[in-house]
Amino acid sequence: MKVVEVRHPLVQHKLGLLRRAENSTKSFRELAAELAALLTYEATADLETEDAEVQGWAGPIPVRRIKGRKITLVPILRAGLGMLPGVLELIPAAKVGVVGIRRDEKTLAPVPYYENLVGGLADRTALILDPMLATGGTLIATIDMLKAAGATRLKGLFLVAAPEGLRALEAAHPDIEVYTAAIDERLNGKGYILPGLGDAGDRIFGTR
Ligand code: URA
Repeated sequence: MKVVEVRHPLVQHKLGLLRRAENSTKSFRELAAELAALLTYEATADLETEDAEVQGWAGPIPVRRIKGRKITLVPILRAGLGMLPGVLELIPAAKVGVVGIRRDEKTLAPVPYYENLVGGLADRTALILDPMLATGGTLIATIDMLKAAGATRLKGLFLVAAPEGLRALEAAHPDIEVYTAAIDERLNGKGYILPGLGDAGDRIFGTR
């Protein structure tokens, strides 16, 4: 499985700011979006381009444009929505499919409750957005849904990932590519990433 921990100085700097407990909702949201844009830049570095031509001020100019497979964004409710604005800054025409998954209170198994994906998934690269890759359960269920709907090329963008989640993902879907600003130490007993960010959804939506 391809796992890229993005070491770019801007990413590391902004992640350091994002980790501060005193961040306001506004700061946390802004930093999450900025980091999402920087992760998008890394995750799209291998997009194919082709020759094209535009009419410039002094005549035709040969240019490059993105070819073939288009991108669909797949934020996982709710926290994934916090990464969407940053990704859309770079790919404003991307179509967006949304996935909602809850945890069964007894079995703790992920249970999909909402799925609204775009068509033509076989011809698109799906960028899954979720700030936290913790146990991997939600992500694996999301990938199961996407593959059942025809997706074959998948990348995941995370602000922070846990080693436990990466291992679970590798066992279930080794064909996905992962882009994350950090691989943290571990999960605590409640499934939170340490040192992590706390509850990313609460911090993005201000519901803490
Ligand atoms: N989800 C979060 O929001 N935070 C974690 O640490 C793990 C899962």
